[in-house]
Amino acid sequence: MTDGTAILFVCLGNICRSPMAEGALRLLARERGLSVTCDSAGTNCWHVGEPPDRRAQQVAARHGADISHLRGRQVSTGDFRRFTHVVALDRNNLAHLRRIRPEDATADLSLLLDHVAGRAGEAVADPYYGSADGFEQTWADVRAGSAALLDRLFPQV
Ligand code: 4NP
Repeated sequence: MTDGTAILFVCLGNICRSPMAEGALRLLARERGLSVTCDSAGTNCWHVGEPPDRRAQQVAARHGADISHLRGRQVSTGDFRRFTHVVALDRNNLAHLRRIRPEDATADLSLLLDHVAGRAGEAVADPYYGSADGFEQTWADVRAGSAALLDRLFPQV
């Protein structure tokens, strides 16, 4: 089932949180029989063309999502027209997206954990400079956010 829904996850570097969110959402959508377009991007250009961080790849793979083929890219103003939903991983990312959002944007802009009951306003913490454990927490957060987002967009009867 598809209704043209296209989701873009955005973090800072596009090598840890947003590719993991993309992997989690793709996995959940497949499990639910949904065909949803999904991509991820960074507010910054530091890691353009690079695969996800090895720790992100390993944790995603452990949970059944292969994200090794993804490559970093920087978010663009056109993304606000190409995607129906642009979803920020933390408040800095959200503030950046609000600043660059063009006047003719059609995408709904939100913070990922705002979709999770009781977690409004929370950030998915940046795991890049932390230990490997942090990436398990990242996976738990992006999975919860993606599941709640899909629940909202495709209510299960
Ligand atoms: P991400 O994590 O925003 O979740 O991809 C980061 C990746 C790289 C850097 C910072 C955060 N960095 O400083 O290079």
